[in-house]
Amino acid sequence: MAARGGFSSRLGFIAAAAGSAVGLGNIWKFPFEVGDGGGAAFVVIYLLFCFILCFPVMVTEVAIGRKTQKNAVGAFNALGFKRWNVVGKLGILSGVIILSFYNVVAGWAFGYFIEMVLGHFDIGQRFGEFTADFIKVGAYSILFMLATSYIVSRGVSGGIEKASKILMPALILMILSLVVYSFTLPNAMAGVEFYLVPDFSKINLAVISGALRQSFFSLSLGMGALITYGSYLSKKENIVSSSALITLADVGMAFLAGLMIFPFVAFNSGGDMSNASGGAGLIFVNLPGVFETLGGAGVVIGSLFFLLLSFAALTSTVSLLEVPVSYVVDEYKMKRSKATMIVAFIIFLIGIPSLLANGASDLFGRFVTYFNANSPTDFMTFAGHIADTFLVLGGSLIVIFAAYVWKTKNLEQELSEGYSGFSNSFVKKYLRFTISYLSPVLLILLFVLVVLSNFFGINIG
Ligand code: TRP
Repeated sequence: MAARGGFSSRLGFIAAAAGSAVGLGNIWKFPFEVGDGGGAAFVVIYLLFCFILCFPVMVTEVAIGRKTQKNAVGAFNALGFKRWNVVGKLGILSGVIILSFYNVVAGWAFGYFIEMVLGHFDIGQRFGEFTADFIKVGAYSILFMLATSYIVSRGVSGGIEKASKILMPALILMILSLVVYSFTLPNAMAGVEFYLVPDFSKINLAVISGALRQSFFSLSLGMGALITYGSYLSKKENIVSSSALITLADVGMAFLAGLMIFPFVAFNSGGDMSNASGGAGLIFVNLPGVFETLGGAGVVIGSLFFLLLSFAALTSTVSLLEVPVSYVVDEYKMKRSKATMIVAFIIFLIGIPSLLANGASDLFGRFVTYFNANSPTDFMTFAGHIADTFLVLGGSLIVIFAAYVWKTKNLEQELSEGYSGFSNSFVKKYLRFTISYLSPVLLILLFVLVVLSNFFGINIG
């Protein structure tokens, strides 16, 4: 056990897992998904999915990890169900795909931080040019991968936990000050209204599918990241309340990110929210111009914002890298530092098409055209869709495994460790119902819908 490492405290685990959850998904992706999904209606569905569908999946992942003290693949073997380790393997594959493109966007964030420090506010209008400069963006993403590898190679308590305990509070402070600031801008309320007043007529299958993908991605579920982090958690800790805190932290940060960004967007557009669907460029295109109007404060606020984004991304890339590294360390008995280097290098290579997909190469920039679509999708977006789909599939299989193969009573046994009142609690009944019935049925159904709407352009509503 000692050789494998572990979190030194409950707070360390929560900081690391919340650090994994809170990332580009919350601050970059969530707002543009809200924009594309028509605003507040998307937010409502996203929140429902997080609490009703995803929370039980999180509890299950952490419990499997802590029970077995193994990586995402080894955990299934350790429970005696070797065949089910394909779920872990699918998870590792998803993690590798996610990190390969996530690291590119993280590089953009860090590059923007540098541009803001230098006072280059016109970078927003040159976003396309910026992402197309693959030497520059490539260098930033190499830098980011090195920072991630450094933390992962230092191990669980000395690297991951320590970094998260510093970065997470910094993140919360930065985001709160930016929210307060954005509220003072002219037209801020038009943004808030777009974000918080739902128009349910905008709900259709694409919106539901987007919200489901987003909730899995945002909570780092469905690929064994939380099996892995759970494997470093002590038996003394309460899994259910820890998971609740992680979910709240993640949802809270996404919510705050929206509260910060839509006032900025509204300010930029003079209150017109009809173009709030900026896609991947939403914050990269809009925000620098906003910061420019702030005069001297702009350099500070702008740098702060993109530093925040980079920090948020870093604790997430760490968790994404930790999943395959932990697998290689456990299963192939490789030294952590060596495993980290090899895995990070391979993932960087896999990320090259994503690096090229945003302006540098036409092949990867117009990679596939889905059925029913009238324009092609770039490689990075495509990789994102594949990975998101795997997460929902992986999450469904994990709960089905826990309820029907490993069995609910074993899961409950693990959950009661560190939670003395569990066996008579309402939480137990709720989790039993959701994990045995509600989550598997809804998740499989939604998985099919996600595939239909993502790849085949089939839309209902
Ligand atoms: N949750 C992170 C975000 O919102 C991304 C992430 C980190 C992730 N680790 C993960 C997503 C594991 C899925 C699985 O930015």
